[in-house]
Amino acid sequence: MSLKFPPISGKIPQMLHGADYNPDQWLKYPEVLEEDIRLMKLAHCNVMSVGIFAWMAIEPEEGVFTFEWLDKLLERFAANGIYALLATPSGARPIWMSQKYPEVLRVAPNGIRNLHGARHNHCFTSPVYRDKVNIMNTKLAERYSNHPAVIGWHISNEFGGECHCSYCEEAFRGWLKNKYGTIEALNDAWWTAFWSHTYTDWSQIESPTDRGEKAVHGQNLDWRRFVTDQTVDFCRHEIEPLRSANSELPITTNFMLDFEPLNYWKFTDLLDMISWDAYPMWHDNGADDSDQAAWFGFNHDVFRSLKGGKPFMLMESTPSMTNWQPISKMKRPGMHMLSSLQAVAHGSDTVQYFQWRKSRGSSEKLHGAVVDHVGHEHTRVFRDVAELGATLEKLTEVVGTTVKPEVALIYDWENRWAVKDSQGPRNSGLHYEETAKSHYRPFWDLGVPVDIIDSECEFNPYKLLVAPMLYMVRAGVGERIERFVENGGVFVATYWTGIVDENDLCFLSGFPGPLRKTLGIWSEEIDSLHDHDSNRIVIQDGNALGLSGEYTARELCDLIHLEGAEALAVYGEDFYAGRPALTVNQLGAGKAYYIASRNDSAFTNDLLARIVEQEGIKRVLNSELPKSVTAQMRTDGTNDYVFLSNFSANKEAVQLDERNYLDLLTGDDAGQSIELAPYSCRILKRESK
Ligand code: GLA
Ligand code: ZN
Repeated sequence: MSLKFPPISGKIPQMLHGADYNPDQWLKYPEVLEEDIRLMKLAHCNVMSVGIFAWMAIEPEEGVFTFEWLDKLLERFAANGIYALLATPSGARPIWMSQKYPEVLRVAPNGIRNLHGARHNHCFTSPVYRDKVNIMNTKLAERYSNHPAVIGWHISNEFGGECHCSYCEEAFRGWLKNKYGTIEALNDAWWTAFWSHTYTDWSQIESPTDRGEKAVHGQNLDWRRFVTDQTVDFCRHEIEPLRSANSELPITTNFMLDFEPLNYWKFTDLLDMISWDAYPMWHDNGADDSDQAAWFGFNHDVFRSLKGGKPFMLMESTPSMTNWQPISKMKRPGMHMLSSLQAVAHGSDTVQYFQWRKSRGSSEKLHGAVVDHVGHEHTRVFRDVAELGATLEKLTEVVGTTVKPEVALIYDWENRWAVKDSQGPRNSGLHYEETAKSHYRPFWDLGVPVDIIDSECEFNPYKLLVAPMLYMVRAGVGERIERFVENGGVFVATYWTGIVDENDLCFLSGFPGPLRKTLGIWSEEIDSLHDHDSNRIVIQDGNALGLSGEYTARELCDLIHLEGAEALAVYGEDFYAGRPALTVNQLGAGKAYYIASRNDSAFTNDLLARIVEQEGIKRVLNSELPKSVTAQMRTDGTNDYVFLSNFSANKEAVQLDERNYLDLLTGDDAGQSIELAPYSCRILKRESK
């Protein structure tokens, strides 16, 4: 069965390699454009994102459009085999617009309207801004959507932020009316009798801010949902004129690392491709970059999962260093190739940069770029980029292949918002994200591919479902997990699960609410430990997982009762010594584990490794991987492409398993033992089983 997706554009069915390109900053230097084209070809670049912040260059005065420079650029691209992702310029507005129509500017939570400046500083609701964007996008679409050089749309840039203007407040009230129908239903969902906060009319409701209401958790949650929906609606508004001019041109907007404010799952239907901007902080931990690598692997997996395994785009990365991190370190030799191929290993069909050429002035003049201020190709960074470009040209057969994990980890935006707003046992650090990471890391170490999903996703494609701190269990999710387990799935839950429903109202049926039956336990209380405190958990002899010994528990210890589940470990200290700390419940054909306390990483690694083994979850390679080395895999159902990556400063070796492997780049038999240079990746090909 072929598992291949079509390429991003039929015009160029290859790995895409390129950068954000801002010739609009160089209009007074015409020689730069010609030189750039020569350099792009030298660097094996085939795509550029253009026009991202070019509103002023396209419409310098209201209604006066100057497309000539863009016409010329795209013409030169077409003549030279370079393609364009054409951006809509809404990420920054021209001064004439802010001056004439102040309503386009955002209002901060303190109620004060921002001044002109910066970027991403616009109201998503303002009718004037929407109108101006519509005019701009219609013109761009009419002029360029059938241009031979254009392969897709790059909508705006890194959507984010919120606005508290009167238009947005009114839209929030409309959103609530639509959701709840009556003010009474809203009061019930928000539990507003608390502190006498009952509303009697829609007009009384304001966005949550520090100046006003922030104590109604259901309201905070709905505001976040509204901000996502309003941003999605703005994005849809941007897309309409583009689609109506040419419905074939694929559309994306670039997302950000672990970006909490927007629930990216709500954008997926609107977009043809998922793209994101990745800026790992390499070399911040001596010789071992595995922590950073696993975290970026996690994020690549999020972006691949958003569209069910469809290849995504690495829209931005730096060819050398950033200029906004506390320490903007250069990439050590090898790291550019490794970091870029990491994205490909997890499912990206592109490697793109911010930025092609360093700007001469302003806040990003010192940010890494393919072409430095010196302007020529004789730099270390340029050579690294060109070498990667030549490598990507050899990966054409990987384009469109996917990743088919047997494991999914639920990392749910709404749950994350709710749990962090919960005001409960550990306000000094609930560590939701770290908990998700620590439950992903063992799979990364073992070379087990993982999808990162939302709790609305299908669970059936997976054998193992891990849900760290699923505090909020939305309607229907508990029942779906129950069926998943009954049908033979394995479910792993942790402390602080099943506390509230989708309105952030606590379950009255005993925690973990709708998962109580599946997990076979009742959680009566949860203890919160100071940073200097710990407990022990003692593994029970003869347990079915073959675990043994003791582990350290910190921060959160759940006090549970067995209701059908079996204890695999018990607490070793305090007044709850002897009470269950790790349980398993058999339900139908499956099993559900409950980890009652936050334990050291040795525990999480051992537990998940034993479950992987016992359940026969496939590892990419049937062999041991050294620390800091991972194996990820893409497949089309006929061939597998195994990416063996070494994220350490040391040379490592991996013994392959019994199957036959070719080195994809050389075409040679890979042999049995693979040498991995410091910071390097080897790509191996084998037949799929
Ligand atoms: C973001 C933006 C780019 C640029 C880079 C710098 O990702 O989208 O315009 O500012 O950061 O790293
Ligand atoms: Zn607004």
